Amino acid sequence: MSQYRPLSAVILAAGEGTRMRSGTPKVLHSLCGRAMLLHVIDALAALPLERIVVVVGHGAEQVTKTVQEQLATEVPVEFVEQRIQRGTGDAVSVALTAAGFDDLDAEDDLLVLPGDAPLVRAETLARLATEHRVADAAAAVLTANVGDPNGLGRVLRDKHGEVARIVEQVDASDDELAVTEVNTSIYCFRRTLLAPALRRLSPENAQGEYYLTDAIEVLRTAGHKVVALSADDPGEAIMVNDRAELAAAEQELRARINRHWMREGVTMVDPATTYVDASVELDPDVRLLPGTVLEGRTVVGTGSVIGPNVHLADVVVGERTTISFTVARDSEIGDDAQVGPFAYLRPGSRLGARAKIGTFVETKNADIGDGTKVPHLSYLGDADVGPESNLGAGTITANYDGTDKHRTRIGRGVHTGVHTSLRAPVELGDGAETGAGSVVTNDVPPNTLVKGVPARDAGPAHVPVREDDDGGAG
Ligand code: UD1
Ligand code: CA
Repeated sequence: MSQYRPLSAVILAAGEGTRMRSGTPKVLHSLCGRAMLLHVIDALAALPLERIVVVVGHGAEQVTKTVQEQLATEVPVEFVEQRIQRGTGDAVSVALTAAGFDDLDAEDDLLVLPGDAPLVRAETLARLATEHRVADAAAAVLTANVGDPNGLGRVLRDKHGEVARIVEQVDASDDELAVTEVNTSIYCFRRTLLAPALRRLSPENAQGEYYLTDAIEVLRTAGHKVVALSADDPGEAIMVNDRAELAAAEQELRARINRHWMREGVTMVDPATTYVDASVELDPDVRLLPGTVLEGRTVVGTGSVIGPNVHLADVVVGERTTISFTVARDSEIGDDAQVGPFAYLRPGSRLGARAKIGTFVETKNADIGDGTKVPHLSYLGDADVGPESNLGAGTITANYDGTDKHRTRIGRGVHTGVHTSLRAPVELGDGAETGAGSVVTNDVPPNTLVKGVPARDAGPAHVPVREDDDGGAG
């Protein structure tokens, strides 16, 4: 594209978003786990841009901070503040002035888009810029034909079918209101023509604002060319102004994410009840069953079956693992593991390969070794469990002494009887064994059986392990 003028982008995100009725700035409301504004930046980041300027106002500090923390692009992103929201036209003026787009001789093209258009695709933005350049236009507008144009600016065409102007709903006549071609608020402008056009805007309209939309008429009246491009997919034109539109946008984005993963080889038995955040990574041949919610930096390896009814947030799952009716966050689950039904893995849980965490088991800050089984009714908090151990039903770590948390260490090939309580800090050596109902208050040496309350030495363990074997538990 070297024959073309350089391209930059301005995102308008200073508005309050009153209709959201929220303490959170509108553009920070999240869709599939990522703030609306970041979806817009992500789409732009796929284009060869010189810079991205974000106009912030309401919640400026919070918006700037969130975007800077979660940004995933090489393109420089700058923030300029529009202190008083005088309208979309004023917002662009502020961007042009504050961001130093002031070299009057330098020609460049400017994509302008609102921060509340999270579904716009990179390809559509690229197409808009290309149309604009090929037509050598002063401006190109992305329009959409919608069933219900309510609330949106209508695109009015002249007798040659060319865009003449855009009229806002509140300023429109009855005839104009009948038009169903709407302004998406996504444009490409020639910056050197836009700047003078903005200076000619007037706030004489129903809202007393400087409308960017009026720049179209100003350019046309001055004899410049304005072209329109219609978005092929009306889903892209969903703008979020209230919670209902937020839900509609989320549904659309979720469907897009699901289609993407199905094309990549993921089975979704019921995509309508499968919720996958934009940041999740799935291998081919993962199977997602109904009611699966995957959030944050969750990763699932090939052959794993997740669901029904599983909620994973920031969980790394290995290959060929099955997880059902489970909630887990900030955890790692190895290959060929089995989790659930009805397990709760709290932050810092790490399950080795072939580990099993069964029914009504809760873990937290716990390392569970390869091949270790915790099948029923247990709590393991602040624990290290070696490989190939088997913890009987109701084995509980008493990790909290009322003041501090302590760790429990369980070796390799350990067997605990049902209802074993482990009062931390305490250690069960390799091959140790506890009788049913034991309350273990002192460390247990390797290959030793303890019983009772408090548990006492009761001779050698039934299934001792040796230094060189890989554990006795099946
Ligand atoms: C705008 C368009 C309308 C279009 C619709 C599409 C104008 C006058 N109207 O209307 O034709 O159909 O978008 O969604 O442009 N903003 C600022 N500073 C301001 C005002 C707004 O940064 O002073 C930002 C907002 O944060 C928002 C965007 O500009 O991200 C659009 O503003 P909004 O008030 O939502 O415009 P609409 O009434 O939706
Ligand atoms: Ca809007």
